[in-house]
Amino acid sequence: MKAIRIHKFGSTEEVLQFEEVPVPQPGAHELLIKVEAASLNRADLGLRSGNYRIAPEDLPIIPGREFAGTVTKLGDGVTEFKIGQRVVAYTGMGGYAEYACAKVPDVRSIPGGVDAATAAAVPTVFLTAWFGLLEEGKLKAGEWLLVQAGSSGVGTAAIQIGKHAGAKVIATTSGAEKGRRLRELGADEVIDYTQDEWDTEVMRVTGDRDVDVVLEMVGGDVYQKSLQVLAAGGRLVSIGGAFGKIPDTPPALTEGRKATRFSITNYLKSKPEDFKQLDQILGWVEKKKFQVVIDKRFPLEETRAAQWYLQGREHFGKIILTMG
Ligand SMILES: NC(=O)c1ccc[n+]([C@@H]2O[C@H](COP(=O)([O-])OP(=O)(O)OC[C@H]3O[C@@H](n4cnc5c(N)ncnc54)[C@H](OP(=O)(O)O)[C@@H]3O)[C@@H](O)[C@H]2O)c1
Repeated sequence: MKAIRIHKFGSTEEVLQFEEVPVPQPGAHELLIKVEAASLNRADLGLRSGNYRIAPEDLPIIPGREFAGTVTKLGDGVTEFKIGQRVVAYTGMGGYAEYACAKVPDVRSIPGGVDAATAAAVPTVFLTAWFGLLEEGKLKAGEWLLVQAGSSGVGTAAIQIGKHAGAKVIATTSGAEKGRRLRELGADEVIDYTQDEWDTEVMRVTGDRDVDVVLEMVGGDVYQKSLQVLAAGGRLVSIGGAFGKIPDTPPALTEGRKATRFSITNYLKSKPEDFKQLDQILGWVEKKKFQVVIDKRFPLEETRAAQWYLQGREHFGKIILTMG
């Protein structure tokens, strides 16, 4: 089968190799899936440069943390799925390939009205936004939510989940066109951080009240200023530092304000049963309550171009690899 493999860490053009490799065989309680689509995530960039969860001795690896397709083979003991069933898998690895194995607990069925590319784009960003906002951030109806990087994959999911929770949502982005699209997704207020001092704008929009929850993923200055726009009792949920540093230990804050770090991988390790939340989210995607924003699709052999596109920051929402 064809797959993208990483043999050493480095830049996109140095390390992403399009190769012929053997089809993997499912072990006990695993499925073999013929992959139709896999989704890109910013974490893939950290993975190929050696900064995300993989040690040099684990190489070579096939990246791709989530993918969707059809079950083609069952490992011993699998009773939960059938050959021919359409599924989405959230494995952390292996999705940039024509076939991939997944453990039964990491797989869910896809509703009939959801295509493979859409399903593959859902797990990371929707589960991160769902549990990051509702469990970690304790977001409640009527509260102000600030979503940094609104046009990111996670941002587009978080805006919709914030509205679902009954919050008033402010999103930051660059440029008028991305801003217009964020309003279409449901953002009540959009701040173009290239035009305005976004923290001053947050104060203006909320009538000097500031916000109850911030979903932060940019890092650096944006992280530091996000602490300043928390109202008393406010919660900052940091999910990463895509463009700047974040403190290893969140700072202590006054007046009941709280800053925490959240990882969907660690969350699902401690609460694996919560992965089933994907069923409800995919159901709402099928009913068009939630929109999965796919910006662009690339064939598997053009994975390098897809990653360059992700790094270029022109995208809005998710980037997808398609197989065959
Ligand atoms: N902890 C977790 O469990 C978890 C899970 C998933 C993702 N993440 C993290 O979440 C972040 C987003 O991931 P993703 O894959 O969704 O990213 P993505 O689609 O690559 O989006 C990143 C976007 O951030 C925006 N941005 C950059 N600088 C900004 C700034 N100063 N203010 C506002 N927006 C800015 C850019 O769009 P503009 O043109 O609008 O600037 C860029 O397109 C990454 O840090 C990722 O590692 C964490």
